[in-house]
Order: sequence, then structure tokens, then C-alpha cells
Amino acid sequence: MIIIDGKKISQIIKEEIKEDVEKRNLKGLKQPHLAAVLVGDDGASQTYVNSKVIACQKVGFKSTLITKDKTISQNELLQVIDQLNEDKDIDGYIVQLPLPKHIDEEKVLMKVNPDKDVDGFHPYNFGKMALEMPTFISATPYGIMELLERYQIEVASKHCVVIGRSHIVGRPISILMSQKKKYANATVTLAHSRTKYLEELTKTADIIITALGNPEFLKADMVKEGVVVIDVGITRVSDPKAKRGYVLRGDVEFESVSKKAKAITPVPGGVGPMTIAMLLKNTLLACQRNEHK
Ligand code: GUN
Repeated sequence: MIIIDGKKISQIIKEEIKEDVEKRNLKGLKQPHLAAVLVGDDGASQTYVNSKVIACQKVGFKSTLITKDKTISQNELLQVIDQLNEDKDIDGYIVQLPLPKHIDEEKVLMKVNPDKDVDGFHPYNFGKMALEMPTFISATPYGIMELLERYQIEVASKHCVVIGRSHIVGRPISILMSQKKKYANATVTLAHSRTKYLEELTKTADIIITALGNPEFLKADMVKEGVVVIDVGITRVSDPKAKRGYVLRGDVEFESVSKKAKAITPVPGGVGPMTIAMLLKNTLLACQRNEHK
């Protein structure tokens, strides 16, 4: 059984990016610049955004963090987006989700200039991704594809069951896995909350990608021997014994499922760190594209 080490692969990718940045510096080229907008005080979002900022510093990117109170109006937030679109130094930026309930997420994401949309959430970029055109692929699905490739997991002709149809993970990864490409070409089933007889599907799956946010939902009796499991779930589960008062749990009961799996991602240290590495990769790409305009 192989434990797919996202932490290690993400470090390799960050090292590759750092070398590219150093080469750019020697040529006198611009330092890539990523900005992040964080609205409100959600603990998990703060942790993610802080990790993104720290990662920027490590690879030699410039970073800007814009924090706004959870009471910010939609119009004020749209003005922040306008400013980011106009700022020539900023190559790419993200608006950390979720946003407070009074803000229309779709309106905000639609306002992001697609050339700076390093999250790949704008419909223009999502559409290009679906049509196999060069674009920004959202960091989490991009990270999963990168893990499959770097671990040379056989994907072609396999039955891949994706659980969860979110716009950020489930839907895009189901599209990417079915595309006519190396380390793709799978036959994909997209399962979700209304799927009946889920176990019948997961038991026939060669590859399972779970993006549910339901801790330890996937058990050993739901999978077949030799399955490849990619666990995107990451939920804080309260644990008074833990230093922070909580532990992180994936969607997969790792202990039991790993005994049957051919390869599996752990939580933490699987898909999570890849998301940050791929965001940096998209930012470098945005910076390079801006130069060639
Ligand atoms: N919230 C959870 N995942 C993500 C992500 O990849 N990007 C943004 N902007 N928000 C998120």
C-alpha cells in the first residue's frame, strides 16, 4: 500500500517554483504577486489564507492580504475586487470562500478579472477547463491530477467514483478525470447526496475521490481490494485531548480503508498541501501570461 504523500510532492513543486522565481530575478523580471481577500473571522479560512501567504514568502512571491469585517456590504466588497482588477502589480488573487450569507458569492466571483482568477472559479475559466483549453485549473482538482501523475497512478479506463458535486472540487474533478489525457481517461460516476445505493458504486470503483466534509464516512466495507482513494475532506472534529481542542479528519476511515487500498492520501498531508502549491503555480502562470500580452 502506498501512502500518497501530498506534503512531500507539494514541497517539490514549491521548490520548482522557487527556482523559477530565482531565474526570473536574475533576468530582472517582475516578482509574482498574489493577493488574498479574507472576509470575516472563520477559523479554518484564516488558517488557509495564512498558509497561502506564508507559502508565497517561501517561494519568493510578493503577497498582499486584505482582511475585511464580516459586516462588509456586497458593494464595498465589489469595490475591493475592482481595485484588485486594476492594480497592475497584482498578477492573481483569490477571494477566500465561504463568504458571509448576505453576500452573493456568484456576483463576487463573476467580478474577478478572469486573467487574475488564479482560483479558476470564474465561469469563463471553468468553461475553458471543461473544454480542455489552457486556463487556470482550480487548485484542489489540479492538485489531485498532479498527485495521480507524479505517483503514476493508472487512471485510463478505470472506474472513478467522485463523491460530492461542489463547484470547487467534485464537479471539476469529475470533468478532469474523464478527459482524453494522460493520467485521466477514466469512466466517471459523480455521486452526491441524492445518489441511491452509493455503496454499490463505491464497491465497483477502482478510484474513489471523496469531497464531502463528512468525517470518516467511507468505511472499508464500502470499497474493493486494491482501490485508489483520494480524500479531499478535511473537517475539524472536537477533541479535548488535542492541543488545539480539535483534530483534522478526512472523509475516509483511514485505519481500515488503507488496509484494502493500493494507494491512499492521508489527512492531513494529502490533498491539502497540494492545493496551496497549485495556487502558487497558477500565480506564476498568471505572471508569465501578463508578460506575454
Ligand atoms: N475555500 C475552500 N477552498 C477554497 C479554495 O480553494 N479557494 C478559495 N478561494 N476558497 C476556498
